[in-house]
Parts: sequence; structure tokens; C-alpha cells
Amino acid sequence: MVAQAHPNIALIKYWGKRDARLNLPAVGSLSITLSQLETCTRIARHAAAPDDCVYIDELLLDGAPAETELRTRLQTLANQMWRNNGPPPVLAIDTHNNFPTAAGLASSASGYAALVTGLDSILDCHYDDSELSTFARIGSGSAARSLYGGFVLMDKGLQEDGSDAIARPLLGADEWPLDVVIAVTSTTSKQTSSTDGMERTRATSPFFPAWCAGQETDLAAASSAVRARDFDQLADLSEYSCLKMHGLMMAAQPGLLYWNAATLACLHEIRALRNRGVGVFFTVDAGPQVKAICAPGEGDAVAAILGEIDGVITLHRAGLGEGARVVAAR
Ligand code: PMV
Repeated sequence: MVAQAHPNIALIKYWGKRDARLNLPAVGSLSITLSQLETCTRIARHAAAPDDCVYIDELLLDGAPAETELRTRLQTLANQMWRNNGPPPVLAIDTHNNFPTAAGLASSASGYAALVTGLDSILDCHYDDSELSTFARIGSGSAARSLYGGFVLMDKGLQEDGSDAIARPLLGADEWPLDVVIAVTSTTSKQTSSTDGMERTRATSPFFPAWCAGQETDLAAASSAVRARDFDQLADLSEYSCLKMHGLMMAAQPGLLYWNAATLACLHEIRALRNRGVGVFFTVDAGPQVKAICAPGEGDAVAAILGEIDGVITLHRAGLGEGARVVAAR
């Protein structure tokens, strides 16, 4: 059985948890799921497990055995999904990304979305998409959004058990086919994980209450912009959310500074392009890579300019892609 999923990029950002144990977001978010970049996860089912729980006896990430800690974490997730329908199996998981892993390109989002979709199939669970998004969220908050294609909303939810902290589709990929250019400005892995960074921000940034208080307004406005295909409005709101998130992080103690000189050079260049009438805006996550979101057909012009900037190592190109799915039954 093979499952496939794509990374997603938030336009209205998620930063901060309301419950760190259950990985519940303090704010909702709005994202786009990408095409081209993908995770393919093959899961094979062996003999019955010796005890009454699911075992993962082999976990390969891009061909290399994963650390025991990750294997244990995924095994816990598999057992949370397991419905006790028959003898629990032993599983072998082999997962590949066609893009660099853990390099600020949201590989954990596509990874967990492909994993829960594959586990659902191999374990015969038959969860619906919103239930699957809650399982993906346990792995990584943003992974819940990769269950769907195109434009996706993630609700913060109000329930303590997180049952309403789910993703839902907003607009299909082919209904507004934006281009995406990703400028990679560093290949070293990030110094502060998003989980640690979020916790530090929540505990120490004086802007955190204001960030949470403003999010629903931003989400409502951005959802309307998406429904109306209003690029300028979405551009303004997305850059606002991105810069607000980084301001919030920078005001933590010690401050979180994810940008480098090339990141900033890209932001200035994208602003200059936009001032010259090119349909493009930026967003940056917890790392130094810059994502340029382009109006349909503007990707080539934007890529040509970003590729010339000092410190830009590579570019990745994408459009908007589909949600997670099973692509081969065996
Ligand atoms: O999914 P996590 O826990 O790695 O958090 C993602 C946080 C951001 O990428 C910075 C923003 C987002 O909404 O994706």
C-alpha cells in the first residue's frame, strides 16, 4: 500500500499551542497545499504482532533507518488509530520525499499526512477526513492541513479533547491555480524546533495575547479574499500575518530570529516586484526559506529574479496540489 501527500504553506499562520500535550493550536490557520513536492509512504503488513498492539519493526526515511524515538512515536500514533479489528499487525514503513527533508519545506506536514492516510488504509480503520486530520495533528500541527488539497482552513477548536481542532477544505486547487516559488537560502537544519519556539513565544512574548486575539479577524478576511479570488487582498493579509508572527517570535526571550541576509533580500525584492505590478507576495515560516506566492502565470518571472539574489541556493517550483490519498493498493 502506498500513500502520497504534499506539504502545505500557511498564509494565515499557526504559531502557539493551547495544549502542548495534545498538540492543539492556540489559533486557527489558512494554508495552500502544494503540488510537485511530495511524500510517498509505502506500508507493508507482516504477521500478527506478538502482543495486543500494533508494532512497527522497520521504519526507513529516504532509505535510512529512522531513530528509535521516532519509530516509537509513530507506533504510538498507529495504536491510537488501531480499532482492535482482528489481530494487530507488524508493519514495515518506507517513506520518501522528492525534496529535502527537515529543510524548512514542511516535510513533516506531508510526512504525517501520508502516514495517517496509509495507516488508515492498511489497518482498515475507515476514518473520515476530519478524523484523519486530528490524527495528523497529533504528529505535527500543520500536518492536519495536508489532508486536503488547494486552500485549507484549520480550526483552533474549543473542545479540551481537540475533537474540533480539525482541518477543512476551502477552495479546490484548480479553482485558483496560484504558482509558488520557494527560495532556499540555507540548508542547515533549524536551531529551534517549532514546538520549542512556540512554547517560548507563548511563555515570554508580550505580543502573544494580541496575536491570539486578532487571528479570527484575519482568518475571516483571508477566507473571503480566497473565495473572491482577490489576489491583492490575500497578499496584504498573508504578508501581515507572516510579519506579525515573526514580530511575535522576535519579541520572545531570548528572541527567535529565523531569517538570514538572503531571506531579507528576497522579501525586499518581492515587495519591489509587487510595487511594479507583478502579482506576488511572500511568506516565511520557522526557518530562512522564502515562499513567493504568485498569481497564475507569474511564477517564471518571479523565479528569474529570485534566482539572481545573493545567498539563494536553489529554487523549488510548485503549483497547488491535491490532498493526501492512497495511490497504490499494494
Ligand atoms: O506544524 P508545526 O508544528 O511544525 O508548526 C508550523 C508552524 C509554521 O510553519 C511556522 C506556521 C504554519 O502555520 O505552518
